[in-house]
Amino acid sequence: MTKEKKKVLSGMRPTGPLHLGHLVGALDSWRRLQDEYDCFYMIADWHALMSEYADTEGLASFSLECLADWIAAGIDPEKSTLFLQSRVSEHLELFMILSNITPLGWLERCPTYKEQLREVTGRDLTNYAFLGYPVLQAADILLYRAECVPVGEDQVAHLELTRELVRRFESFYGPIFPEPQPLLSVTKRLLGLDNRKMSKSLDNFIGLGERPESIRKKVLSMVTDPERIKLEDPGHPDRCTVFSYFGAFQEEMTGGVRSWCEGATVGCVACKKKLAEAVIAFLEPIRKKRNELLHDKEELETILRQGTAKAREAAAQTMREVKKYVKLLT
Ligand code: TRP
Ligand code: SF4
Repeated sequence: MTKEKKKVLSGMRPTGPLHLGHLVGALDSWRRLQDEYDCFYMIADWHALMSEYADTEGLASFSLECLADWIAAGIDPEKSTLFLQSRVSEHLELFMILSNITPLGWLERCPTYKEQLREVTGRDLTNYAFLGYPVLQAADILLYRAECVPVGEDQVAHLELTRELVRRFESFYGPIFPEPQPLLSVTKRLLGLDNRKMSKSLDNFIGLGERPESIRKKVLSMVTDPERIKLEDPGHPDRCTVFSYFGAFQEEMTGGVRSWCEGATVGCVACKKKLAEAVIAFLEPIRKKRNELLHDKEELETILRQGTAKAREAAAQTMREVKKYVKLLT
């Protein structure tokens, strides 16, 4: 008998258009995991709602766009289960059961929670649901009994909380969930165009569906090595975000870029123009595929329906067992 593949679960919140950061930071590794693991990839719209509840205008379209972007980036619905969180109500059932055994202190001390309360402006995150964000995330993972979870470093605390909940669940009700392990992506995080963290709210990103003209404009606005002011000033490519983008999207060119930068033979504007064309060429097939998909919403809906049906089946199976363990009348 062939050994069953290990399960992977990961998710992304549909809060805006996906960008190069999602591609390099998550989708590339999601794509690579597809053959080796039984992958479940979830559009985490309930998680989006926890912080974006006051402005839900774009939520539905961002969810569908998210699916189109994933497929365009090589996530294959034939290999992986792609689904929408809010269509699998078992997530909330398990969320509730886990909420009972989650001490408030664990959530109040969670570093991501404290950081978001401190840093996020324009949205009120002191709501009840947002405090429980990592508990819903634990429910997402445990519902599929995922052994591995590809996440960025920022999510490691949430995974640790999930593991603690597994142990606590076991101590109350018995062993049912495996402790999930993080799969940290090998690729570094791509900085935003302004050298800050790439994020939707800072508007410092290049979207996967961005038009060439707009990419050119954005790349020309990128922050470079501040010590390289004139053409004759030698630059420090390792301190320049433009250089790191070459590394991510046009590796073959990095040798050349390094030598023209350190040797002060090509100026930053010319360098950025080359990067813009490289990024445009890199994104072209993704942009084409995503536009095709977005023109055929029926097809996207079908893919989502099929993935969601598969997810529901796995989720229902787990919930039947969970209810037994918790000793609810079934
Ligand atoms: N919190 C994750 C993020 O913001 C998204 C997410 C929701 C997730 N549920 C998950 C990631 C379960 C991994 C596993 O990136
Ligand atoms: Fe950055 Fe290119 Fe300018 Fe060097 S030449 S500092 S890599 S933009």
